[in-house]
Parts: sequence; structure tokens; C-alpha cells
Amino acid sequence: MEDKKLIFSGIQPTGTFTLGNYIGAVRNWGPLQDEYNCIYCVVDLHAITVKQDPVKLRQNTMNAYALLMACGVDPQKSILFIQSHVKTHAELSWILSCNTQFGELSRMTQFKDKSQRHADDVNAGLFTYPVLMAADILAYNADLVPVGGDQKQHLELARNIAQRFNQRYGDFFTVPEPYIPKVGARVMSLQDPTKKMSKSDDNPNSCILILDDKDTVIRKFKRAVTDSEAEVCYREGKDGINNLMSIYSTITGKDFASIESEFAGKGYGDFKLAVGEAVADHLEPIRTEFDRLSKDKAFLKQCYTEGAEKALRYSQRVVSKVYRKVGFVDRT
Ligand code: TYM
Repeated sequence: MEDKKLIFSGIQPTGTFTLGNYIGAVRNWGPLQDEYNCIYCVVDLHAITVKQDPVKLRQNTMNAYALLMACGVDPQKSILFIQSHVKTHAELSWILSCNTQFGELSRMTQFKDKSQRHADDVNAGLFTYPVLMAADILAYNADLVPVGGDQKQHLELARNIAQRFNQRYGDFFTVPEPYIPKVGARVMSLQDPTKKMSKSDDNPNSCILILDDKDTVIRKFKRAVTDSEAEVCYREGKDGINNLMSIYSTITGKDFASIESEFAGKGYGDFKLAVGEAVADHLEPIRTEFDRLSKDKAFLKQCYTEGAEKALRYSQRVVSKVYRKVGFVDRT
């Protein structure tokens, strides 16, 4: 690989990506390929921390892989692979888990949320999930991790684990930096703008899926919860409008001041329609490209097989050194 900084990120294959996934993370992954060495991964090992139907998981994993390509990740420029194809992630995760404290994991807000939502299955994997995420990143000694704001706490833990390992065994891991967008790091639910937009929300109107057709996108935006004023401006307390303005800004490239003047004197109806249309038009080519790619199973297979080979070769070098550092006997 060229001598550039290294980026790593991943996404769970739990259905179609949301507009939150897209704006907070995935939309940046394509452009970053020109400036950095990029490694991107569909994290199926993470997905099974909550119950999955095996048939659907396989389908969702293939779809997520094709969708990343449709969103601009180019397997010729980046290493794009499926996590379970590369055994080093699980291997490193074990070693890192022996360098992670129970107390640290207990403080993870995502664990607290998910263990409430899946109270019938609070399994050990759900608890140690952030260690596997740290392993994903550290197995490549990544410099930067492009994610949405909700992953910040996990990333801080990954940094702590790396620093602790370095103190104990001598400097080795790169301590990764988060790469979180200034606008759009936290896309909120369209129905309750104090909550994060999430595909696990029971109300389908709360969440735009990036494969939603134009009418559906516009309909969901028209129903978005706002406030009783009629002023399109970014201000504390206007969570619904702030969210729509952030979405519109990231999609059109317009800043808040120009959005405010564009909609001065107009009602929320006009604004919601404009946001809906801008988002739908933006997503249209992604949908078309996804339809094309997802039919070409042989091509996808070739891409993910090559991606896994490259990822394994790279991470194996790192993990072998870790084995030596912790005192395991060389096999050969
Ligand atoms: P996941 O699959 O939940 O989400 C993928 C990416 O989308 C971002 N995101 C959002 N951004 C803004 N607004 C939202 N409403 C929103 N919802 C989701 C997430 O921040 C994430 O960047 N643990 C990770 C996957 C992972 C990973 C990694 C990421 C596993 N290993 C290593 C980076 C590096 C997760 O569950 O993301």
C-alpha cells in the first residue's frame, strides 16, 4: 500500500442503511479513498450480538457489501471485505479483551441501551462488542476512523485499550483518531428529533432508508415532526428543524445561513418538500447502482474474496507481532 495514513471503518449488515448511516459515515468513505489508504468492512460478527435470522443475515451482508459499492466505495481503491472472512479480528479481540476492564465495558451507553431493548438475550458478545470493534481498528493500526457521533465512546475505549497495551508491552499500536463530521454526525429520528435515527425504531416514518423510493422519502419528510413556529432557522430548542436543516445542508452543500434565507417567509411545508426532494434525488443514483450490482453475484464474490485476502495478509502481520509481544511461542 502507498505511504498514506490509514482509515478503517465498518457497518453492520442489519438491513438497508439509514440516512443516518449514510450522512454520519458512509457518504464520506468514497471521497476519503483519494487521500488515504482505506479499509472498509461489513461487520457480520458484530451483527450476531443480537438475534439474527441466518438466511436474512446472509442476504443483508451481501446487500450491505453491494450498497457500500453503490455509495462510492471502490474495491480497486480500498480493501472492502466481510468481517467473518478474516479470522484475525476474532483472534485479536481475545487478546484485547484480556486488556480491557469489566468496569470500562459496563459504562458503554450502547450496551446499556441494547441490553434494555434485548432484555431476553443479554449475551457476553453484546457486552464485549466494543473490544471486537477495537480489534477491527487495531488489527490494521489504523490512524483514522470515520464514524457517526454515536460511536465516539467506543472509539475512546479503543484508544484506551491501545494505550494500555502499549504501556504494558511496549509501544506498538497506533492510537486511532475519530473522524466525525461537523454537520450530520447525529441524524435524528423524523418522528422524535430528540432520538437518533435508527432502523430498529418501531415507527417506519422515523427513518429514511437509502433504498426508499422517491415518493416514500418525500412522504416521510412531509410527516416529519417540527415545532409550532413557522421559521426555518437553526436554534436551540428547534430539534426537528435543526435536524432537517442539517440533512439539507449535508446533501446540498449549502450552509445554514443560505438555507435560512432560501426559506425566509416560507412555511415548513415548502421546506420539508425541498428536503425530501433533495434527499430523494441524491439517493436515486445509489438505488440504480445497487440494483445493477446486486444482480451481479459473481462480481461481488470476486470483490469480497479478494478483499478478504488483502485484509488477512495485512492484519496477519500485525496480529503475529502482537502474539510475539504477549509471549506466545512462534508456531514455525
Ligand atoms: P452501525 O452499523 O450502527 O452504523 C454504521 C455507521 O453509521 C453511523 N450512524 C449514524 N450517524 C449519524 N446519525 C445516525 N443516526 C447514525 N446511525 C448510525 C455510525 O456512527 C457508524 O459510523 N460499531 C459500529 C460498526 C463497527 C465499526 C468498527 C465502526 C464495527 N467495527 C470499527 C468503525 C470501526 C456500528 O455498529 O455501526
